[in-house]
Amino acid sequence: MKKSVYVGMSADLLHPGHINIIDQAAKLGDVTVGVLTDKAIASYKRLPYLSYQQRKTVVENIRGVARVVAQETLDYRPNLQELRPDYVVHGDDWKTGVQAKTRQQVIDVLAQWGGELVEVGYTPGISSTQLHGSIKEVGTTPDIRLKRLRRLIDAKNIVRVLESHTPLCGLIIEHAREVVDNVPREFDAMWSSSLTDSTLKGKPDIEALDLTARLQTINDTFEVTTKPLIYDADTGGKPEHFAFTVKSLERLGVSATIIEDKIGLKKNSLLGNQVAQQQESIEEFCHKISVGKKAQITQDFMIIARIESLILDKGMGDALERAGAYIGAGADAIMIHSRQGSADEVLEFCRLYKQMEKQVPLVAVPSSYNSITDEELASAGVNVVIYANHMLRAAYPAMQKVAHSILRNGRTYESEGECMPLNEILNLIPGTR
Ligand code: SPV
Ligand code: MG
Repeated sequence: MKKSVYVGMSADLLHPGHINIIDQAAKLGDVTVGVLTDKAIASYKRLPYLSYQQRKTVVENIRGVARVVAQETLDYRPNLQELRPDYVVHGDDWKTGVQAKTRQQVIDVLAQWGGELVEVGYTPGISSTQLHGSIKEVGTTPDIRLKRLRRLIDAKNIVRVLESHTPLCGLIIEHAREVVDNVPREFDAMWSSSLTDSTLKGKPDIEALDLTARLQTINDTFEVTTKPLIYDADTGGKPEHFAFTVKSLERLGVSATIIEDKIGLKKNSLLGNQVAQQQESIEEFCHKISVGKKAQITQDFMIIARIESLILDKGMGDALERAGAYIGAGADAIMIHSRQGSADEVLEFCRLYKQMEKQVPLVAVPSSYNSITDEELASAGVNVVIYANHMLRAAYPAMQKVAHSILRNGRTYESEGECMPLNEILNLIPGTR
């Protein structure tokens, strides 16, 4: 009888290395490819460019592949236990790092029925990492960028979003990467904040900036980045105007907008009741959500309803009632905001929210309650965490220091340590030289 062979792969940026593995596998027997789902891939590296369905279609049409199954986890064991293959074939590049544990599990489980792991040598001269870099250089399309946020929310335990107010800031978010517990971590998306956009123009956060000015920044940012963006639309304005905002955002490739349930002259939420600001009635806000939903052209654009009940001391009951009503009106996600120093009230909201009949993804903005980690928020049921103003707040103290130092010293010599070296700034942007 023909032997059976199992190959697990992401199959996102396919190159001759993958074909070589499939060729080697086909020499051993009948090849089943386990294509990793978005969730399985996002558990240990960035979300793939192509969706699971697209990747499956490609692999099904490669010579030597008998069938394709979904591999739902990075762990191969569930599929292996079901299929009991004679061989597993894999590239030999998983002996160290995050996949080393997975590899050992494969060896151990195969031993149960005398199966064998066959490792194929790395194909020199090409790698997914190189291709990934090239794709980033090429950029993306509005359509692909727009769709990406929903895919991230579906696939990831927590979606990390950082505020961006300039294209340069967008580039920092595009490339920032840290390896934590062997797993690479990146920001998933950008936040266009009304607070930081207004501050950058020297204006208060009271909806004084016009849409065109804000969209211009986003357009410039999109020219040099590929990650999705969530747009802070404040109250959304009049429902009739909000309908146009939604269409403009979609056209640019923005993935989502958040509108807050305030009315009249809105002030920044972190000021709470120190300033006069009012919450919109549930009925009127639901109307605005449904007008926005009807205006959108794509399936994927998200309208996120932001609840200000805790900000304005209206109580947990009011917050939950509003969550239910806004979901009923078509909100694609709920943002719960708080200005407390501790996360307690947000965690309490999450606990009660879980008991609600219908739920949508949950967004939190831990600006004031900043000691909780994104993973702790995820455990409480939060899907998206927004770090809402930190890039702007990080940049300006350095500028202030340097301005004072130049005045004091009558020269720039003393302030050089606060500044990026000239050579570095020239090399920062590709294409400068
Ligand atoms: C923003 O970043 O503009 C926000 C969040 O809306 S907050 O400043 O907390 O209101
Ligand atoms: Mg705002």
